[in-house]
Amino acid sequence: MNRKIQLLQEKRRDALLGGGTTRIESQHNKGKLTARERLHFLLDVGSFEEIGMLVTHRSTDFGMEKERYPGDGVITGYGTIKGRLVYVFSQDFTVFGGSLSETHAEKICKIMDLALKNGAPVIGLNDSGGARIQEGVVSLGGYADIFYRNTLASGVVPQISAIMGPCAGGAVYSPAITDFVLMVENTSYMFVTGPNVVKTVTHEVVTSEELGGAFTHATKSGVTHFSCSNEVEAIHNVKKLLSYMPQNCEEQTPAYIYEPADELRPDLDKILPENSSHPYDMREIINRVIDMDSFMEVHKDFAENIVVGFARLAGRSIGIVANQPMFLAGVLDINSSKKAARFVRFCDSFNIPLLVFEDVPGFLPGTDQEWNAIITNGAKLLYAFCEATVPRITVITRKAYGGAYDVMNSKHIGADMNYAWPTAEIAVMGAKGAAEIIFKRDISAAENSNEKWLEKEKEYSDIFANPYRAAERGFIDEVIQPAETRIKLIKAFKMLENKVVNNPRKKHGNIPL
Ligand code: HXC
Repeated sequence: MNRKIQLLQEKRRDALLGGGTTRIESQHNKGKLTARERLHFLLDVGSFEEIGMLVTHRSTDFGMEKERYPGDGVITGYGTIKGRLVYVFSQDFTVFGGSLSETHAEKICKIMDLALKNGAPVIGLNDSGGARIQEGVVSLGGYADIFYRNTLASGVVPQISAIMGPCAGGAVYSPAITDFVLMVENTSYMFVTGPNVVKTVTHEVVTSEELGGAFTHATKSGVTHFSCSNEVEAIHNVKKLLSYMPQNCEEQTPAYIYEPADELRPDLDKILPENSSHPYDMREIINRVIDMDSFMEVHKDFAENIVVGFARLAGRSIGIVANQPMFLAGVLDINSSKKAARFVRFCDSFNIPLLVFEDVPGFLPGTDQEWNAIITNGAKLLYAFCEATVPRITVITRKAYGGAYDVMNSKHIGADMNYAWPTAEIAVMGAKGAAEIIFKRDISAAENSNEKWLEKEKEYSDIFANPYRAAERGFIDEVIQPAETRIKLIKAFKMLENKVVNNPRKKHGNIPL
């Protein structure tokens, strides 16, 4: 008996060493943690239960039968984060560069299947040289098995991918299907084809970091939602993200302790610039309305003309979508529409109520936007809001112009409560442009055309550059004093707590992709 227990202990000890101490040292020298160290930081102390610690690959080509490591390059299992169940896999770069073999893929699929059956999030810590080259097509099949499960699990349980090292080739498509991607600056990268292939095909010379590092994907492509300065920060962000989410699509979000206090926010009455064409930072408004320090911005450095992120209001999670007048005057364009649409759909999938702050002058004009399909891409955001059945509230702080008024969670497309501040301007377009078009003849016939233009601009502005026309129609439920915003929102979200809306039965919709 003792000998048998000793054998088990030896096997476990072997598995804990992954690819061996030299490779662990090399991992540390690159400024990276090992797969097990990452799990240690991620999960509640003592909560990790490993599944498949002794799995090895079955490959015999290229002498592979002589090189077997228990676990086969990925540590899989379950544990808890702040007491809540999660399923995890953590790729071990010290074993064949974390490359994905048939058995490595089977281990990941096993925990994904468990996550789906038991309704808990899946967190992947990725650090891999891609397909196990020695295994050929078997490895590609393994990837496809994972992609398939990622897709089936989408909208059922939250899926989060933290990229801690290389992630290249088709391997990038698993993280791309998951809900959130986090990258670590300088040690992680993602690309479909690496710098060498790029150089051969397009003659561009580019480093891995430039082509697919965290900064690139956080600012240019939007592939990553978070760019983190180190692995510990990335892991911290994974845990924080989860705190806003339910375990699965059937559950409500966690409620945090909330002590009602004086909810008036007098600062908000003075927050907008006197001149209505001057910019301001919408985050200043968001932070005064939500529970203190509860905002977690998503996609912070991408399409900055729109702000999206999670927050809490009276202890409950909400998803915020807000135009940002500080960047491009808060205009909607291709990237901001795509960014916000994806966020809206995530929130709707997981019962997270939506709050919209609106100050939008319209869609961005120009050939670049038209030729790159602002029509299709703008429609993504419109579609996402139309389809969302969670409680939905809009606060118009200033401009709500043109088609963007409709798109930004208007009453007409299913929003539940629409508030406007007295500073709101709800119209087809700005008064200056409107006057130029509809009073063109008067202006050109006038002795002093500039003066006439100003007069007509004022006339249009007096009629439409306010929230009252919309309020008379009931398109705005209430014009509120900015200081009251938090109180109104807490009450309205509480009132909407049991909202039930069933969209028409269908196989699935056909969002304009
Ligand atoms: C098997 C691999 C491997 C792989 C790395 N290794 N990648 N083994 N299959 N894909 C092994 C190395 O042989 C080495 O073994 C160890 O991992 C560490 O690799 P190094 O090269 O020493 O590390 P480093 O210098 O940090 O470079 C890391 C790397 C590089 C950039 C990831 O290893 C690399 O370019 N690997 C190949 C990447 C690739 O082309 N993958 C296939 C992509 S196509 P020892 O024994 O020395 O420790 C793909 C298709 C997926 O993935 C399609 C899905 C649909």
